[in-house]
Amino acid sequence: MQSVLITGGAGFIGQNLVHAWCAARPDDRLTVVDAMTYAANIRSLESLIADRSILFVRGDIRDAALMRRLFDEHKFTRVAHLAAESHVDRSIVDPEAFLQTNVLGTFTLLKAALDAWRSWGTIDRARFLHVSTDEVYGSLGPNDPAFSESSPYRPNSPYAASKAASDHLVRSFVPTYGLPVLITNCSNNYGPYQHPEKLIPLMIIHVLEGKPLPVYGDGSNVRDWLHVSDHCDALINVIEQGRSGETYNVGGGNERNNRDLVGLICDTIDRAFAADPNLSARFPSCPATAGRSTRTLIGYVTDRPGHDHRYAINATKLATELGSRCRVDFESGLGQTVRWYLDHEEWWRDVTSGAYKAWIDKNYGYRIVI
Ligand code: NAD
Ligand code: DAU
Repeated sequence: MQSVLITGGAGFIGQNLVHAWCAARPDDRLTVVDAMTYAANIRSLESLIADRSILFVRGDIRDAALMRRLFDEHKFTRVAHLAAESHVDRSIVDPEAFLQTNVLGTFTLLKAALDAWRSWGTIDRARFLHVSTDEVYGSLGPNDPAFSESSPYRPNSPYAASKAASDHLVRSFVPTYGLPVLITNCSNNYGPYQHPEKLIPLMIIHVLEGKPLPVYGDGSNVRDWLHVSDHCDALINVIEQGRSGETYNVGGGNERNNRDLVGLICDTIDRAFAADPNLSARFPSCPATAGRSTRTLIGYVTDRPGHDHRYAINATKLATELGSRCRVDFESGLGQTVRWYLDHEEWWRDVTSGAYKAWIDKNYGYRIVI
């Protein structure tokens, strides 16, 4: 039995990880800390909080006193650190929050773990998992080999640079202080509870509302899509079985360019409308209601500055050392994800009200159709 701290547990991957952890390791005690930024939502955790399966603390990882108090109260033996500012476009508009949380917040948490585990004499039995991204490695050309754990760091956005800085800090705590850390760098996640600012949910919701689908540039940029459930399984495996001090890359093995992916989302929604007449009544603005292909909504807009062309992950180390492999095939994972957004309209209407509208104006208002 472990006492586990999950930071950022009210975010997209965090919520999925909390559920996966409760299912995989029901005897562990989970404490979730989250600052509840715009990206957070605890609706999916409410029943776990109510029946005391988990403890939820609203708090900022930069708050050193709070972090130390939580370590002292709950005697954490595992930390899964996911709290971050995570959206590349926001990091271009307002980078400072990324340095604050991703760099200074990570440092504060590392220090709290080190001080606590040293003072209790439990450093040899503890584990700190830092969840990071493939974006730290920069961008691949069309024929380059996929990123491996030894690929050089070449971050291209303030988000990626802040995650790279946090990876370096985390790593430095191994030789300097002997902190038992593990780092994972993963590719683009998709699945339930993803904030609608990110490509897949944004496109699904725009299709349902009959709004233009803003593909950046010419849509040739490639991402390697990883279902969030496969990612969470890998994280639990790494924290329990991984070698301390090591980095593990996690990828989906599903490279798709944005143009094809958005087309696939449209086709999936068209099929869902054809099979279920109730959808037309619920989403009257969607072109599929009138039997028109929703691909007609696709438009190409001003590119993201510094837009990385391609990410791809070589996940051989994770598979050979720890036996972690992806189970969700991309077409069915995407189909389930579309279905999830169709079935959770109330969730995304709630998330896309208020401040989200201001973000959409800020990020898309200046982009011209090309
Ligand atoms: P997210 O933006 O959905 O969630 C981040 C969570 O962190 C939110 O609940 C937010 O409230 C919380 N948070 C932000 N600042 C905080 C602070 N100062 N103190 C406490 N909590 C704070 O992000 P996500 O997509 O779930 O990503 C989780 C982690 O995985 C991040 O570290 C991200 O860099 C990494 N990652 C994500 C992806 C992806 O595709 N989503 C891929 C690779 C790596
Ligand atoms: O690779 C891992 C990273 O994946 C994570 O570290 C980040 O936290 C996560 O946000 C994600 O970053 P991306 O920038 O790849 O994801 P995003 O969903 O923002 O964009 C995916 C691709 O789609 C990218 O090439 C940009 C493009 N895009 C995105 C949006 C929001 C569009 O063409 N139009 C859009 O409106």
